[in-house]
Amino acid sequence: MNAAVVTSFDEPPHYRRFELPQPRTEHERVVDVLAAGLHPRVRTGARGAHYTSTGMLPMIPGVDGVGRRPDGKRIYFAAGDDAPGTMADKALVDVRRAIELPDHADAAKVAAAMNPAMSSWVALRRRVPLKPDQSVLVLGATGNAGAMAVQVAKRLGAGRVIGAGRDAGRLSSLTALGADAVVRLTDDADATAAALAAAAAEVDIVIDYLWGAPAQRAIPAVLMARADRSRALDWIQIGAIAGPAIELPSVALRSANLRIQGSGQGSVSPEDYLAELPSLIDEISAGTIAVSPNPRPLADVERIWTEPDVPGERIVLVP
Ligand SMILES: NC(=O)c1ccc[n+]([C@@H]2O[C@H](COP(=O)([O-])OP(=O)(O)OC[C@H]3O[C@@H](n4cnc5c(N)ncnc54)[C@H](OP(=O)(O)O)[C@@H]3O)[C@@H](O)[C@H]2O)c1
Repeated sequence: MNAAVVTSFDEPPHYRRFELPQPRTEHERVVDVLAAGLHPRVRTGARGAHYTSTGMLPMIPGVDGVGRRPDGKRIYFAAGDDAPGTMADKALVDVRRAIELPDHADAAKVAAAMNPAMSSWVALRRRVPLKPDQSVLVLGATGNAGAMAVQVAKRLGAGRVIGAGRDAGRLSSLTALGADAVVRLTDDADATAAALAAAAAEVDIVIDYLWGAPAQRAIPAVLMARADRSRALDWIQIGAIAGPAIELPSVALRSANLRIQGSGQGSVSPEDYLAELPSLIDEISAGTIAVSPNPRPLADVERIWTEPDVPGERIVLVP
């Protein structure tokens, strides 16, 4: 088969022949790949830098995709942890990590949206189930996942949703997607803390795609401004776009009811992810979650890999 093949963690993948994977268990099937999203998680894996990376080369990147089974049915599937990635003509699918797509589902939209949309959907359904009218702050709301988190929180019944991010233009577009307020994260730490305190002091849940310095500053800014610090603040760590680590003073944990947990591969079981797929696919197909796929030929993967991302779009490689 043809595939995007990573031969060095310092280079983009090359489009070349690769041995067709063979099913290794009774649960695995080979399917034709129709579309695979180029998500940040895929790039991290192709650099050998994801926490699940094995360091083995050559490897095929791609964590999920839309495929066609031999019986003609289209499916959405997540790649197995030890299976070749999805950026190829064919992929190995574990039937326990796949679901059939309804006929009206758009393959490119599903491939583009599932990874970013699932991050908040699963966090708010499985990690900290959102209660009606609770309020949510999305830290890092200007990316694909963040903008979808605003819509997902509203769809799941949030009362007030606040989007925080650094790009003013993308921030302003969040209002049309349902955000009740936006906060600009700037290099002025005091002004940013004051803006967060004014808009988000009383939130119940934070969906955090940034971590690093913005989260380190936002945690005390929100906590110190709360009317009742014993009221729970659930901080769900999902992405680390702004840095892999923070310094957290112990007083933040003693002086307020701060509960930090993550949501991702490992903290959520494959069964729990699978259980959430059908309803999320329905939302994407119904247009509740806005998505802008940018379908591109898999054969051009090497060139596409180094192109700058177009904000709001998600590249989808099509074999
Ligand atoms: N755990 C999970 O289940 C899960 C699932 C999906 C994604 N993720 C993670 O979530 C993160 C976001 O994914 P995505 O698909 O939304 O990526 P994306 O579409 O590329 O968006 C990333 C956004 O981050 C913003 N950004 C970058 N550095 C920033 C900084 N220092 N301060 C504020 N904003 C900054 C950029 O916005 P501007 O350039 O407009 O400022 C960019 O739009 C990634 O780390 C991804 O790996 C996790």
